[in-house]
Amino acid sequence: MDKITVALPKGRLFDQTIEIFQNAGILKEEVKAKSRKLILETENFRFLLVRAKDVPTYVEYGCADIGVAGDDVLLEQQPEVYIPVDLKIGACRIVVAGLPESKENYNYNLTEIKVATKYPKIAEDFFKEKGITTHIIELYGSIELAPLLNLAPYIVDIVETGNTLRENGLVVIDDIRPSSAKLIVNRASYKTNNKNILNIIEKLEKVV
Ligand code: PRP
Repeated sequence: MDKITVALPKGRLFDQTIEIFQNAGILKEEVKAKSRKLILETENFRFLLVRAKDVPTYVEYGCADIGVAGDDVLLEQQPEVYIPVDLKIGACRIVVAGLPESKENYNYNLTEIKVATKYPKIAEDFFKEKGITTHIIELYGSIELAPLLNLAPYIVDIVETGNTLRENGLVVIDDIRPSSAKLIVNRASYKTNNKNILNIIEKLEKVV
């Protein structure tokens, strides 16, 4: 059997995905991402450790046959891949947040809104649908700083435990949608390696 190349985000999702693969009976070995090694080989898989945002790129371009990516990343990037399984890990919500006092000025009658975010497309699409023009300030991390420093009154970001918002005195102002990690599949691999990939999909579906 040809090895399947899997692009996985480093961090917590990596360990959770490995556990799901083991529970599904498609991975026998222990795989730990402890060293700085970026490619981990097992009997049936080659795991690539990449940044969460880069997973769709590796899969879309065929460097990986399959991968794991959150709805946040998939909605933002709209990659040309198949999305066959909801792995139900990495669950969070995509929200609009800000200082409690900004809540009063927030409503769908606004004509324009200033938003700091690392999800410009998600933010723009959400407000566009409500007829609101978005002035996006794109950031790459620590988004919660933006309202505190008057860079923008609102942020669009993911919330998991809510700790980051709380510790910075921010609140959820509006809910955009839930997000969880999905199995994604390269379109060509799905055809050329169909039996192998269908077997993985079926076994994963049974344990999630
Ligand atoms: C994400 C997100 C929030 C935080 C939410 O950031 O952008 O800041 O996690 O999680 P919580 O609700 O459990 O506190 P991440 O940790 O990826 O870091 P970043 O801001 O540097 O992107």
